[in-house]
Amino acid sequence: MKTIQNLDDFLDFAWVQISRGKADKKSPARHPTFITSSTDYPNARTLVMRQCDRENDQIEFHTDTESYKMLSLRENSHAGIHIWLPKVNLQIQMNVDVDVKNGDITIPYWNNVPASSRIAYGTIPLPGTVIKNPFDYEYTPDQKRFAVLICHIQTIQLLLLGHKHIRAKFKKETNWQGEWLSP
Ligand SMILES: Cc1cc2nc3c(=O)[nH]c(=O)nc-3n(C[C@H](O)[C@H](O)[C@H](O)COP(=O)(O)O)c2cc1C
Repeated sequence: MKTIQNLDDFLDFAWVQISRGKADKKSPARHPTFITSSTDYPNARTLVMRQCDRENDQIEFHTDTESYKMLSLRENSHAGIHIWLPKVNLQIQMNVDVDVKNGDITIPYWNNVPASSRIAYGTIPLPGTVIKNPFDYEYTPDQKRFAVLICHIQTIQLLLLGHKHIRAKFKKETNWQGEWLSP
């Protein structure tokens, strides 16, 4: 088990794990759960982490403009990110404010999306539409249906399981000074 000396050490450890989501395709941090909540029930789904940037407190995801999460984000741009890293016994929970980019501004991002991945943006009929048979849809990759979700991290909460658990919360508004929490 990782020995945590102090709060800064704990946050550094978490960021090393978050960064592996971008660098290491096998890391569970590659596939965070992204939670939106509008007037309806909260909705959680797995997304691929496309970028993470500690300097700017950002995590980036890509999605289809016509997916339900976009509707949900239009109603409430506050979202959650959850990551569980079983090898290091660490749970990471984040509150994020999501900046949705779509239209021409996403062209530079789209140019970097491999052709094999572009099929995820532009399905007909629209994602979530009821269809008669499982393959009654077509992939029609379309840059206009491509959205970039820039998640501005506001809080990070960490729980490290061990003989005695360790829990802490860090807030951007206090320049990421942490506080220990009872687990
Ligand atoms: C491993 C995995 C990775 C996924 N990555 C993405 C992704 O990067 N972007 C995306 O929009 N959906 C991704 N999905 C699909 C979403 O989980 C979800 O089914 C889809 O986006 C529709 O969600 P919504 O209806 O809540 O908007 C992924 C699913 C899995 C299982």
